[in-house]
Amino acid sequence: MNTNVVWHQTAVTKEERRQRNGHHSCVLWFTGLSGSGKSTVANAVSKKLFDLGIQNYVLDGDNVRHGLNKDLGFSAEDRTENIRRIGEVAKLFVDSGQFVLTAFISPFAQDRALVRGLVESDEFIEIYVKCPLEECEKRDPKGLYQKARNGEIRNFTGIDSPYEAPEAPELIIDTHLHSIHQCADQVIAYLRDRHFIKEDL
Ligand SMILES: Nc1ncnc2c1ncn2[C@@H]1O[C@H](COP(=O)(O)OP(=O)(O)OP(=O)(O)O)[C@@H](O)[C@H]1O
Ligand SMILES: [Mg+2]
Repeated sequence: MNTNVVWHQTAVTKEERRQRNGHHSCVLWFTGLSGSGKSTVANAVSKKLFDLGIQNYVLDGDNVRHGLNKDLGFSAEDRTENIRRIGEVAKLFVDSGQFVLTAFISPFAQDRALVRGLVESDEFIEIYVKCPLEECEKRDPKGLYQKARNGEIRNFTGIDSPYEAPEAPELIIDTHLHSIHQCADQVIAYLRDRHFIKEDL
């Protein structure tokens, strides 16, 4: 670490931004197998929040890997670094007074714990997007399971790389049991319960 790098105090605080926005800011961390529905539900929640006038942004796996993290692969080491960087970016969004929804498989409990540790305790909501592997494989929206089974992709989560399910997530959504709309509403209801968004919205 360069010792000449000094943190500069910001002129506008996180609290002031939240007050202006009229809502809390936090990370909604969606985790689950490929095809479980992280991107789908995160985007459905994002649209609902947007329509309520709530500042939010979705950070999505593939999009981030096209830019910020395009130097990273899918080895255990690179997956960890991928999540660490995303965690730091998510923290900046929280600081900017917004909800940030992240849609990454994030298979390792330790990596998710690291991100949780980057922010305050009321700023990290872990959402386990639960769906049986067989169902994810049946959906296979990107044809990735097929490729993993054929050996065209290595280190694919659920096939030849492990997924460590969260032990105590704030929320579990069962995408094989409920519709996209119901799953998104479950997240919104949770945010209302915690008073992260105003009741009259
Ligand atoms: N209740 C549901 N919630 C979310 N997705 C659902 C649901 N029911 C069916 N689906 C379908 O499951 C698929 C989920 O794909 P999606 O790309 O969102 O998964 P993902 O978890 O983001 O995967 P990846 O890690 O590969 O990006 C979509 O085709 C979606 O239409
Ligand atoms: Mg996705």
